[in-house]
Amino acid sequence: MASSTTNVVSEVWKRGIFENRVVFCTGGNGSICSVQVQALVYLKADACVVGRNVKKTELVAQRIASCRPGCKVLGIGGVDVRKVESLKNAVERCVKELGSLDFLIAGAAGNFLSPLHKLSPNAFKSVIDIDVLGSYNITKLALPHLVSSVQQNNSYSSTPAGRIIYVSATLHYTGIPLQAHASVAKAGIDALSSSVAIECYPNHVRKVSRLFSRRHLKLPRKSLH
Ligand SMILES: NC(=O)c1ccc[n+]([C@@H]2O[C@H](COP(=O)([O-])OP(=O)(O)OC[C@H]3O[C@@H](n4cnc5c(N)ncnc54)[C@H](OP(=O)(O)O)[C@@H]3O)[C@@H](O)[C@H]2O)c1
Repeated sequence: MASSTTNVVSEVWKRGIFENRVVFCTGGNGSICSVQVQALVYLKADACVVGRNVKKTELVAQRIASCRPGCKVLGIGGVDVRKVESLKNAVERCVKELGSLDFLIAGAAGNFLSPLHKLSPNAFKSVIDIDVLGSYNITKLALPHLVSSVQQNNSYSSTPAGRIIYVSATLHYTGIPLQAHASVAKAGIDALSSSVAIECYPNHVRKVSRLFSRRHLKLPRKSLH
């Protein structure tokens, strides 16, 4: 684990910077977000990753947890970001078992390649629902906890709290073949993240959008699988 950890955590980060912080991550059982969570856990956060597939989510949580003795990483499967009730239960379990929800990563996404003329309305809707509605659902459920985290940690000397990372892309800047559904979804996520940034600013909850293009994807994608 040590070698894969050095691949995902830059030396610029102060060791232990995320002590006493909890990150909740949708899609945290996937290639990119599991590595993001692993980096935060290595830097002393505890974490809750959720996804639909129960076995995969639990396995990835165990692997993330192996990067730092003593950390707590919950892997909650059976959670569909389109279904508010399952997400709500996961958020409540995270706060109950880990003590707070200080950072949110909204990373769950659906994607596949399809030309527009073969893309069914249902397939298009499915991607919009997972990406856009899913990001909205988890934002709404996590916000009260993020605001309360900011209130409890609102000091310039303390580690940041109340941060949201939306996982976007660069597809929609120019358009790209076979990716109309994902491009539209990521444009929606960018719009949501801008609204959150403006509306939540008075509460000091901040968002940090994270863009991924192929150029950025040099992470060891197989490190957790
Ligand atoms: N890979 C790329 O080239 C690329 C480029 C730009 C942006 N991105 C973005 O980066 C993020 C991660 O991408 P990735 O390549 O790491 O994808 P990934 O490995 O497929 O991970 C996405 C995860 O989301 C979960 N998920 C999908 N639908 C869900 C739902 N309805 N409810 C709950 N969880 C759901 C999946 O787990 P379950 O199946 O268990 O639900 C999956 O593990 C995504 O937002 C993606 O759009 C990726």
